[in-house]
Amino acid sequence: MNPPLLQLRQLSHRFPNGTLGLDSVSLSIEKGEFIVLAGPNGSGKTILMRHLNGLARPSSGEILLNGLSVLDNLARARRIIGLVFQEADAQIVGQTVSRDAAFGPENLKLPREEISRRVEASLQAAGLSGFENRRPHTLSGGEKRRLAAAGVLAMRPELLVFDEPFTGLDWPGSADLIEVITALHASGTAILLITHDLEKILAHAQRLILMNKGRIHADGPPSDLLEQVEELGIRRPRCPLHEMTWKR
Ligand SMILES: Nc1ncnc2c1ncn2[C@@H]1O[C@H](COP(=O)(O)OP(=O)(O)OP(=O)(O)O)[C@@H](O)[C@H]1O
Ligand SMILES: [Mg+2]
Repeated sequence: MNPPLLQLRQLSHRFPNGTLGLDSVSLSIEKGEFIVLAGPNGSGKTILMRHLNGLARPSSGEILLNGLSVLDNLARARRIIGLVFQEADAQIVGQTVSRDAAFGPENLKLPREEISRRVEASLQAAGLSGFENRRPHTLSGGEKRRLAAAGVLAMRPELLVFDEPFTGLDWPGSADLIEVITALHASGTAILLITHDLEKILAHAQRLILMNKGRIHADGPPSDLLEQVEELGIRRPRCPLHEMTWKR
């Protein structure tokens, strides 16, 4: 049997000040899954994300990507796993939108024509065609978020992780982003989406992971776990599961 795409084994993270950010977290992610990860503020979602491609180092435990340690090959991890952080500004590196989206594939040392093809395709997928020559700092918050997504898309990752992607987005902005994310999932990309807004996205997920105090509180089909979300302070949408989407 093939190993899972990603496997966290008893991963713990203690910050220098002694705070235990992650407490023995074990979970596997298979190719092509669509997972929503939710949990109260401070439950460890962002620090977990930072471990996935080696931006944070475990205090104990390990992370395997296709059966091999992430830390032993960071370049491989950064190619296969794309992270879209909440602060899109921090992820912008290029002088123009297309230069920015080209940054990842340039690091992969791909031929120039392949880089152009990928940049064009990922800007289109992120709804940014026509923005190629804009300066990134002149984009709106939602456009910056989509540019960050385009930048990781150009790497053709197998797993895309979004941290609170809907923050600050209006309904059309959220709907556009959901369109992009569900299309990527349909084309085979695994999605791990961190959010408190179950109402906006949960209809598309096959799996819900709930975190609390640095631990996995529950992990399973959304329909089985909805009963439990309010005990963690996550609002349970007042609509049936299949209506939990802001997709138009
Ligand atoms: N650099 C740091 N030093 C000490 N503690 C930290 C540091 N960064 C995060 N923490 C703590 O680790 C815990 C987990 O933080 P994390 O950012 O992963 O939470 P989160 O689940 O993403 O929360 P939110 O929903 O607010 O984004 C929190 O208690 C936080 O205060
Ligand atoms: Mg966070």
